[in-house]
Amino acid sequence: MFDQKHRVTRSDYELWRAGQDETAARIAADPDRLLFHVEPELGWLNDPNGLVQVGDTYHIYHQYDPFDAAHGGPVLWNHLTTKDFVTYENRGPALFPDSDLDSSGAYSGSAFMHDGKIHYFYTGNVKHFDRDDYDYVLTGRDQNQIHMVTENPDKLGEKHIAVGPVDYPDDISTHVRDPKILEHDGIYYMVLGARTKDDRGCVLVYTSHDLECWKYATRIELGEKFGFMWECPDLFELNGELILVCCPQGVPADGWRYQNPHQCVWFRIETDWEAPSFKIAGQGMPPMVDAGLDFYAPQSFADADGRRIMIGWAGCPDATAQNPTVERGWQCALTVPRVLNMRDGKLCQWPAREVEQLRKERVSVTAGETVGSPGRLFDAVVSCRGTKSIELEVREGVVVCFANGMLTLDMGDEGYGRDKRSVELDELYCLRVLSDATMLEVFVNDGEVALTSRTYSSAAPAMQLRAEGDASMEFYRLAR
Ligand code: FRU
Repeated sequence: MFDQKHRVTRSDYELWRAGQDETAARIAADPDRLLFHVEPELGWLNDPNGLVQVGDTYHIYHQYDPFDAAHGGPVLWNHLTTKDFVTYENRGPALFPDSDLDSSGAYSGSAFMHDGKIHYFYTGNVKHFDRDDYDYVLTGRDQNQIHMVTENPDKLGEKHIAVGPVDYPDDISTHVRDPKILEHDGIYYMVLGARTKDDRGCVLVYTSHDLECWKYATRIELGEKFGFMWECPDLFELNGELILVCCPQGVPADGWRYQNPHQCVWFRIETDWEAPSFKIAGQGMPPMVDAGLDFYAPQSFADADGRRIMIGWAGCPDATAQNPTVERGWQCALTVPRVLNMRDGKLCQWPAREVEQLRKERVSVTAGETVGSPGRLFDAVVSCRGTKSIELEVREGVVVCFANGMLTLDMGDEGYGRDKRSVELDELYCLRVLSDATMLEVFVNDGEVALTSRTYSSAAPAMQLRAEGDASMEFYRLAR
């Protein structure tokens, strides 16, 4: 009944949702549900959208297909709020693909606060079905960048086209999406992920003086092809530098790098604001934002404390990895909110301190010692400066280890298609494993490297800190 050929209105959804209470209750009681991460009440979740703080409340929206856990249906925006990043109130869908501008999906977008009003920008995906020879890359699709203004984050306002197909450069395909706004010196910059007609990813930049009228200004690209499409660009200033995070699709693996089908990488950008021009600085292989098996499409925002907080989708499009929960009617989650900082030229991320509220009993061990019954809810911080090798079994057969300069997350035999990921390191001095039932988030060397992966092994054997050299671990059980 629900597919990309038909619009979905709020009342269509409400009628359907009225028959889903039993399914929702069964899903809520599933032992694979997470304690302190955002998950879909029903069905499928992908990208975080519209992150914004209003007063003391954080608003988080996300791509949501409640109708089909395997994501065969249209996407809406679901809305949650939190004050503490560990308890979330699900306020339900806030944006529906119910108009001519977005009839095949309310795709990803962002929020921008200005003069007490929230400006939302998102992509209205429109697919045409009047012919059967469309390829939906060069033909048969429109992607509209839609603007809505409101003071009420539960009611997003009227939809108006801000930038549409007539505004795209001639060499760009129909794939242009995921608007994100940056303000600098009173000028607004909208970045859009794009695919050229000859299958190269880039970011289009539009400028505006009033958030209403937008003009194409320039693009951000690499000299060499790096993927066929760049999704979800996020351009922001951080510790005096301009950073672009984006998600190039279809980059071939290169050694231990880019092993997932699609990437999330970051660039330092050199800017001439007057021109304007945005050039990717430096050479070499773009660093991955997260080197795990389940990470994509992050978005960041600045909160009232001046923190730049990033939340990602703990999933990856076109991945061979499966989530067994799909058979039980749901899959995917968002990552924990992570605070970003530039340190020694590296984009570092660290779980928002609020998560530490959940730390309960603490167990301290040194190399060779064991934590009995660790369970699946824990926050383990290992100090290991100078240690030659280290190994921690975080679930039965699931191991985080460091040896010969490589840090590896090995998902063992029950990874549902997940094997392992490695990162080369000059040294390892600290390791943090944040574990929430079926989610693992590993932070290396104060967040220089992160690895996110889902794990569905329920066995959590006694956890021994195996190390060649000195090492110690502060292990906290997490609970409400
Ligand atoms: C990234 C993405 C976005 C798009 C959205 C659709 O995961 O493909 O580019 O807006 O998901 O759900």
